[in-house]
Amino acid sequence: MALRRIVLEGDAILRKRSRDVAAVNERIRTLLDDMWETLEENNGVGLAAPQVGVLRRVAVIDTGKDAESEGIKVELINPRIVEADGEAEEEEACLSIPGMVGAVTRPARVKVEATDRRGEAFTIEGDGLLAKALCHEIDHLDGILFVDRASSVRPMEDEE
Ligand code: NI
Repeated sequence: MALRRIVLEGDAILRKRSRDVAAVNERIRTLLDDMWETLEENNGVGLAAPQVGVLRRVAVIDTGKDAESEGIKVELINPRIVEADGEAEEEEACLSIPGMVGAVTRPARVKVEATDRRGEAFTIEGDGLLAKALCHEIDHLDGILFVDRASSVRPMEDEE
């Protein structure tokens, strides 16, 4: 595994639409492994492939750092939202926009279909942090950043 450099806001790559993964091969699995390592190193909840400079529809999510979630770790290839219910406004941040937070309204619950690293289709459903992360990461694959959807954006307070 290798750490990858996180692309920051302002880089045009974050604004592009990522391409579908046609075949889940060793290259994609290595990308996933590297993304996990990079996510962990940066203490993030989620990371999408364009954030490491790869325009492929791949993302990883780890809700483990949130006390209320069940600590779900999931890797998503070609994810798409197939159901969305309700509305929830929550604070969001992004590893590509360090030091900033903003309130974003998202569906309260989503159901997502995706492919796993063995190339098998699966469905994941979630609310709370998981729903927020699923929407946020899938947005990245379409070149959308949370600041595009935030009602206001402000500097993050120091949190210990
Ligand atoms: Ni992000």
